[in-house]
Amino acid sequence: MRSVDALIESRLNSDVALVRRISEYIIGGGGKRLRPALVLLAAGCLGYRGVTHHELAAVIEFIHTATLLHDDIVDVSEMRRGRKTANSQFGNAPSVLVGDFLYSRAFQMMVSAGNMRVMAVLADATNAIAEGEVLQLLNTRNASISEAEYFGVVQRKTAKLFEAAGQIGAIIAGADPEDEKCLAQYGLHLGTAFQLIDDVLDYSGDTSETGKNLGDDLSEGKPTLPLIRVIQNGSREQAALVRHAIENGGKEDFQPVMEAIRATDALEYTREMARAESALACKGIERLRNSPYRESLLALAQFAVDRSH
Ligand code: IPE
Ligand code: IPE
Ligand code: MG
Ligand code: MG
Repeated sequence: MRSVDALIESRLNSDVALVRRISEYIIGGGGKRLRPALVLLAAGCLGYRGVTHHELAAVIEFIHTATLLHDDIVDVSEMRRGRKTANSQFGNAPSVLVGDFLYSRAFQMMVSAGNMRVMAVLADATNAIAEGEVLQLLNTRNASISEAEYFGVVQRKTAKLFEAAGQIGAIIAGADPEDEKCLAQYGLHLGTAFQLIDDVLDYSGDTSETGKNLGDDLSEGKPTLPLIRVIQNGSREQAALVRHAIENGGKEDFQPVMEAIRATDALEYTREMARAESALACKGIERLRNSPYRESLLALAQFAVDRSH
């Protein structure tokens, strides 16, 4: 991971000072680097001994970072990684454009890695993320979204990139089709669990740990699973309250909605679904030979559901 960080730093070079300034600002904010770690672990599981995985891990982190820059504009978020979001610090226009810079830099790097299948996987994943974000936008203020539709958004906007991370780690390690499939599936389930917990933390997290503001999802009318669950399983009053909050957005509903969430099983239910996804992730890699890499993948699946940051 130290090598990956060094690569990330060196690949941010640009003659345009503002590009460097903003990309270093967001990347320097830290971040858990889970997706690049997954690339390395997947490759390691299959005994990979080269160095291309460092480059591809950096590619994945650049794609992730580009989506964060764009996502924070769309979500009107003010805090990320414990600091002001790039859009609040520099404005929307520079953030969109530097997001584009990071995407296209990622493409330059993946071309230099020179593996057509890896490029295909990353191109598909990037495209799916964009679809996921658009789908989510279409569902803003939609209190009638089904659980299945919600999972469709989660799979595209978040889980796809984790899936790609596992899959490309496997591809460069020369995996056979079954091993490639199982590491891709591991990523997909891990990413789903990860987003479910992100949606829990938006209502229950501690800003000093998550580095993000609480209540962002509600204030923009984003119908995530905790809210869907209150509508489905809460009392008639609780359901009506949450419906109204989704349809109207805004921070003023936050306290009453929090009370409804606490009084029902909404967060526990969402956590339970995340645990189920995490268990599926672990089950899928049972067939791989035991190694410190596989142990770390199992620990990562546990972290995805226990995390508070
Ligand atoms: C944030 O991802 C976006 C989601 C998919 C929830 P992370 O929580 O991995 O963000 P960083 O990279 O650690 O900041
Ligand atoms: C994940 O969704 C966003 C991306 C896939 C870029 P969120 O909107 O929940 O992520 P956060 O909470 O802003 O990190
Ligand atoms: Mg967001
Ligand atoms: Mg979130």
